[in-house]
Amino acid sequence: MAVWSLVPLAYFLGSLSSAVIVSRLFRLPDPRELGSKNPGATNVLRLGGKKAAAITLLGDVAKGVVPLMMAKLLDTDVSVVALVGLAAFFGHLYPVFFNFKGGKGVATALGVLSGFSWMVGVATLLTWIAVAFVSRISSLAALVASVLAPFYVWFFTDSEMLVGASIVMSLFLIWRHRGNIERLLQGQEARIGRKA
Ligand code: G3P
Repeated sequence: MAVWSLVPLAYFLGSLSSAVIVSRLFRLPDPRELGSKNPGATNVLRLGGKKAAAITLLGDVAKGVVPLMMAKLLDTDVSVVALVGLAAFFGHLYPVFFNFKGGKGVATALGVLSGFSWMVGVATLLTWIAVAFVSRISSLAALVASVLAPFYVWFFTDSEMLVGASIVMSLFLIWRHRGNIERLLQGQEARIGRKA
C-alpha cells in the first residue's frame, strides 16, 4: 500500500461521526439537533447517558489513533505522520459522509496526539481531566488542553512538523469552540452531564 493513501483513508475514517452512529444505534436523539448540537461525546452524555458517551469517546479517539498507528507501522516519514493526523482531525470537523458538518475535534485530536507520542496523549488527557475535575466544564477543559498540547508535542517529540500540525489542530479546535467561549464568558456554559 502506498503510504500516501493513508491520508485519504484517515480523512474517510475521521468522517465517520461516532456520536451520530452511536446515537442511532442506542435510539437516542440526534446530537446535531439537541443540547449543544455538537456531535461529540459531551453532548451524547447530555442526551443519552454514560454508556453511549463512552463508546462515542472511544470511537472518536480511535479515529485519530488507528491511522497513525498504521502510518508508524509502515515506518513512514514524520511529514506523512503529521498529514495523516491532520486528515483524521479534519475528517471529524468536516465529514464527507455528514454534509461536512462535524464536531469540535476534541477526542479525535486526543487520538492524533496520542498517535504522535503516547506521552503527549497522556499529558493532554491529564490536563483535560484536571480542568474538568475542578470546573466540571468539558469545553473549558478542552480549551486549556488544546492551548497546552503544542508545548507537550514540542517537549516530547521535538519535531517541528508535529508541533506545526498540533498548532493547526488547536487553532481549529478553539475556533470551533467559539460559541462555548461566549457562554463561558457569560457564565452560562453547561456543566458536564447537565442540560444547562
Ligand atoms: O468535546 C466538545 C466539548 O469540548 C464541548 O462540547 O457539547 O459542551 O459544546 P459541548
